[in-house]
Order: sequence, then C-alpha cells, then structure tokens
Amino acid sequence: MTKRKVVMSGMRPTGRLHLGNLWGALRKWVAIQDECECYFAAADWHMLTTAYDRTDELEGSVREMVMDWLAAGLDPAKCVIFRQSRVPEHAELYLLLSMVTPLSWLENNPTWKEQLQELAKTKHGKVLGNVSPEEPESACATAQADESLRTHGFLGYPVLQAADILIYGADLVPVGQDQLPHLELSREIARRFNAIYGEVLAEPKALVTETPKVPGTDGRKMSKSYGNTIDIYEEPETLKTKVSGMYTDPTRARATDPGHPEPCPENPPGCSVFALHKLYNPDWEARGAECRAGKIGCVACKKDLLGRLEGPFAAFRDKRKQFDAKTVEEILEEGSVKARRTAALTLDKVRRAMRLR
Ligand code: TRP
Ligand code: SF4
Repeated sequence: MTKRKVVMSGMRPTGRLHLGNLWGALRKWVAIQDECECYFAAADWHMLTTAYDRTDELEGSVREMVMDWLAAGLDPAKCVIFRQSRVPEHAELYLLLSMVTPLSWLENNPTWKEQLQELAKTKHGKVLGNVSPEEPESACATAQADESLRTHGFLGYPVLQAADILIYGADLVPVGQDQLPHLELSREIARRFNAIYGEVLAEPKALVTETPKVPGTDGRKMSKSYGNTIDIYEEPETLKTKVSGMYTDPTRARATDPGHPEPCPENPPGCSVFALHKLYNPDWEARGAECRAGKIGCVACKKDLLGRLEGPFAAFRDKRKQFDAKTVEEILEEGSVKARRTAALTLDKVRRAMRLR
C-alpha cells in the first residue's frame, strides 16, 4: 500500500466563517479528507499576531469556527482537527526555524506589507469614520496604526506558519491564492534548514483552489478586518441587507447603461454581485452578457442572486445546529493528542539534526 499524502492547513479563528473562507479553502479541505492524512489547525497563535490585545475572544472564536468547519462537512473520523496552541511542539520548531530565517525574507513578504497597509486603513477608518477604501491612504494614519502592528510576532507570522506545516511533514497545503507568498516562504525555510543540518524537512506544495477570488461587499478582498464579509450562515434578513448594499459598477447610472461586471479599467475591482453569480449561478456567463448590454438592472440582478443563495445558506444553518460546545471541545481535545504524536516525531528529528539532544 502506498503511503497516503499528508495534508496540513489552518485558519485563524476569526469567529464565524465567510464565503471567502468557504470557497478559498474549506471546500477543498472537505474534499481532500477522504484521500489524505489531514491535519487542520485552528491557528489561535496566528490570531495573536494582530489581535494580541483581544484574547478574551479567542476561545469563542475557535469554537464558532470549528462548528462552521463541521457544518461544512469536515469529519473528525477522517481528519485531525486541533487547536494550534494545544500543540506546543509548533512553538519549539518556530523558535528553531527563526534562527535560520533571514530577516529580509520576512520584510519583503508582500502579504505582510499589504496587511500592514490595509489594517492601518481599516483602523483609521473606524476611528475617524471617513476613510473610503478607494481613498489614497493617509501617511499619518498608516504611521499611527503601524506602531501597534509592528511587532516581532506579526513579522514572524510566516515562520510560525512554516512550523505548522513542516512539523507534519506535509506534502500538500490547500490554501487560497492569498497564502501563496507564505507557502513559498515555508518552502524556502525548509530548504535552508536542510542545507545547513541535512535533509530533515519535507518541502510542501501549495494546493491552490481554482475558484476566482471572492470579493467582499465593498469590492475589496473579503476579510473580517475590513467589515465586508458575508458569513456562511448569514441569517436571511442580514443576507438580504448585505446583498442589496453590495458594490456593483459605479459607472452605471441607470439599468440600460452598459455594465462592467468583470474587473477592468472602468471598474477596477469588478462587480461583487457578479463574482457571486459565478459561484452560485450556472448561467453566469449569460448574466455577464446581459449586464454588458445594459439589459438588466443591478436591483434585479441582486434579487436574482439572493434567490440563489437562500437554499445553500439554509442547508448550512440546519447542519450547524447539530454541533454544540461540548462536542467541539471533545473533538479539539482528541485532535490535539493525535497532532502532538506526529509533531513530536518531527521535532525529535529536528533536535537531533541540530545536535540539541
Ligand atoms: N495564514 C493562514 C491564514 O491566514 C492560516 C494558517 C496558519 C495556515 N497556519 C497555517 C494555513 C498552516 C496553511 C497552513 O489563512
Ligand atoms: Fe453587477 Fe449585475 Fe449590476 Fe451587472 S447588473 S453591474 S453584474 S449587479
């Protein structure tokens, strides 16, 4: 029998999951659990890299997120579901990897730079309430927010992620497009470690989801920190409100104006409603043509989308009701024990290679 491939992935516990999480990663996780040996982490330490002053929310956020995983179809009988902070082996590997990781790799990480800027804008927008996403960022706002985010931990985010992945000897890492720079760093760190201490760490491959990016209701990338998400289990009323308020095509004044559903110079982010049609409407191509020809208004187009979302959303809500806090706690406990068993084996090899035992 050939050995099954090892899969590792994680998500930061941001609470309830949104459509970006579902289409970017979770659906892939559910599909792959039947074929591979899978480890899925609630990456609560990663959460601390930005939300270190909100630890009171952590436990609840882990629970909510894992309930969403289960409702979406992850099965603890088929995969290992665990909480990162319950597997302290990750922290030791993180420390050791940080010794061989050049600072320049982290400082040049595009995700880090981008996140710093975006989070700064959001923070500033919240405080003053008047910064639109399209407005050029104010240097002063960035500097202010930067201060609290320019931590050792946040810069080291990808090193911790490398430790998560490498400690299970993962062959494959199913992630959304946005995680590719982090994945590349994991590979580079593994290579550098191996070059110094000998072949110990397996180089993981990214398994990128083919789905197009899911934009948020405002046209930016869907992310909790931007306040533009649609949750997987959104209640019917809020779903309706969010769809009606979605970013469309600002160049269209009336329903007969030709629209720009896809990202283009006239509408750089592309229409967010159209992006969801692509996922939930098998006739999305026809819809794009109608829009370009000015044959449908945005109000009607949104209403149609809403009708298509209601069924799948109701199904998720029903399934989620089957899981309570106690069940989730038991699953995480059992998962952490299993994860530690595997993690300890790799850590032992790493220590030996480094003459630490
Ligand atoms: N950085 C990932 C995210 O924000 C979460 C994550 C943590 C992760 N550890 C991981 C993803 C290991 C893949 C593998 O979504
Ligand atoms: Fe978007 Fe639909 Fe309006 Fe076209 S008609 S801009 S696809 S909401």
